[in-house]
Amino acid sequence: MDLTNRTVVVLGGGSGIGLGIARAALANGARIVLGGRTREKLDRALESLDAKERGRCISVDITREADVVRLFESVPDVDHVVVTAAVLAYQPIREFDMEAARRTIDSKIVAALLIAKHGGARLRPGGSITFTTGVATDRPSPGGAVVGAVNGAIDCFIRGAASELAPIRVNALSPGWVDTELWDTMGTDKASRFAAMAQRLPTGRIGTPDDLGHAAVFLMTNGFTTGTVLHVDGGHRFV
Ligand SMILES: NC(=O)c1ccc[n+]([C@@H]2O[C@H](COP(=O)([O-])OP(=O)(O)OC[C@H]3O[C@@H](n4cnc5c(N)ncnc54)[C@H](OP(=O)(O)O)[C@@H]3O)[C@@H](O)[C@H]2O)c1
Repeated sequence: MDLTNRTVVVLGGGSGIGLGIARAALANGARIVLGGRTREKLDRALESLDAKERGRCISVDITREADVVRLFESVPDVDHVVVTAAVLAYQPIREFDMEAARRTIDSKIVAALLIAKHGGARLRPGGSITFTTGVATDRPSPGGAVVGAVNGAIDCFIRGAASELAPIRVNALSPGWVDTELWDTMGTDKASRFAAMAQRLPTGRIGTPDDLGHAAVFLMTNGFTTGTVLHVDGGHRFV
């Protein structure tokens, strides 16, 4: 799990799971670069990590090709890229707001294509790309059809990308419910939903960003793992 002298770019690193992954990479010796659209959020996240000279931030919208090109130009010698960024539109199918659906598709699928295209040309030998899918692929909750669909597309994409971009390894993390800022925007009673889900899960608790950080470091450092979806979901898929 040693990332000493490795540069890890975490796109979505300003909050939630991405921040947990950045923390884990830093703890294992990496230099980290946090990417996201909101500069202040990135600055706050970096400050919370106390990364000193091993951390920096870059403002980037990963749905825009020019931004992704600029990202890889301004961060030379990238070893690992982890993508957690997403804008998730939960909405019933009969009431689809197509613009919102497109933003979700752009944030997961178009962004993945851009990162594979430009990262695939730039990463150092031994490098890897890790995307993020999620339990909605197997267990879509009501209103979760678009989110499930984009996650399912990532599940498929990583195998094609792992073949074509080799020796760069390409994998995906699939979280179950993780306590992050994402849930604060949903307008539901987070605490009671989490308590009910925790009771159902074999692990007896909801996930933390640090659970996903640990798994992401495994995917970055295990040189024999590629084209794989690593489920870190407390058993959610089968309850
Ligand atoms: N939390 C869960 O329970 C859960 C469960 C299953 C799967 N997941 C998956 O895990 C991933 C991370 O979720 P999270 O809970 O950590 O969410 P989060 O806290 O909302 O983090 C997402 C981050 O992505 C950034 N972002 C969004 N769009 C971007 C763009 N176009 N370009 C660059 N950065 C962008 C956001 O910052 P800005 O808005 O400032 O750009 C934000 O910091 C998502 O892919 C989600 O589908 C989460």
